[in-house]
Amino acid sequence: MNIYILGIESSCDDTSAAILFNNKILANVIANQSVHEKYGGVVPELASRAHQQNIIPVVDTALKTAGISKEQLHAVAFTRGPGLLGSLLVGTSFAKSFALGLSIPLVEVDHMKAHILAHFIQNDKGDRKVPDFPFLCLTISGGHTQIVLIKDYMNMEVIGRTIDDAAGEAFDKAAKIMGLPYPGGPEIDRLAKQGDENQFAFPKPRIPDLDFSFSGLKTSFLYFIRDELKKNENFIEENKASLSASLQKTIVDILMEKLTEAANQTGVNQIAIAGGVSANSEMRKQLTDAGAQNGWNVFIPEFQFTTDNAAMIAIAGYFKYLKKDFATLDVTPYARGSF
Ligand code: KG4
Ligand code: ZN
Repeated sequence: MNIYILGIESSCDDTSAAILFNNKILANVIANQSVHEKYGGVVPELASRAHQQNIIPVVDTALKTAGISKEQLHAVAFTRGPGLLGSLLVGTSFAKSFALGLSIPLVEVDHMKAHILAHFIQNDKGDRKVPDFPFLCLTISGGHTQIVLIKDYMNMEVIGRTIDDAAGEAFDKAAKIMGLPYPGGPEIDRLAKQGDENQFAFPKPRIPDLDFSFSGLKTSFLYFIRDELKKNENFIEENKASLSASLQKTIVDILMEKLTEAANQTGVNQIAIAGGVSANSEMRKQLTDAGAQNGWNVFIPEFQFTTDNAAMIAIAGYFKYLKKDFATLDVTPYARGSF
């Protein structure tokens, strides 16, 4: 059977709509919200308003790009959570009314599971290697840092998590300290390419089990820079590249240590990464190297599916659609993690 799914993502500051044809993407439209740039972070109320302005044009563009009419859709999948409630409400309300108007099923999707399931989006040729079950996924974004054991499309267990800040937050906060624009992750990645990763050393936390902590790193980065600025007011400007490279290496080292421990503990050797921070070049490099060294089968998402997008919501919706796992119209969004 041929199935068309509309995916809607509105959990943070990207309004996105995607059209999926079985497990292939026909359109993945993303409207970024530039309104937050001058505040150095996402302002929730402004995000909700921008989603309201963007959602109809974004869905319309997705349908046109895919070359299908809305009547051809089989289901509407949307992000139910976690995320900003006001933002989620826009996508949820739109998805409900669109599905109701078209008399097609509504499918609710967990944003963090969707980041992982993006690995199952097939390319045009149909030759993309996808993970087998079980596999491990290090899910690293602006709000979450988790090691997840995936037993099936919908059967996932979080076996490690951050006890404070997320990895993406560590990048963003360090960038803010250096006066770089938001989001800071891509900026640090870019600057790090010209820097020396061994120039500065930052402490790594000692956290038991498979859990993470990044707030200590942020604080030591802040204090280190504050002290250096007292000696040289141009310290940041003169050392931006090496500060970025050293910080990036520290964050990725912390992530890789726990991921390696998770692989050893579970005996699972299929290892994936997902979420915005999986776009990071040092992260991709270290995972590839560790894969070669440890004999892991490594899965790195296509760049366009790393940061928030509706294609991942549509593929997660597709697997639920096949199981007839539909939502009812009284479904409400949730701000915090569900699994
Ligand atoms: O998955 P995502 O788009 O949104 C959330 O669900 O949070 O992740 C956004 C996070 C931000 O913290 C951003 O700085 C980070 O991903 N990010 C990166 C890179 N690209 C995005 N961090 C490091 N290096 C990158 N290249
Ligand atoms: Zn995300």
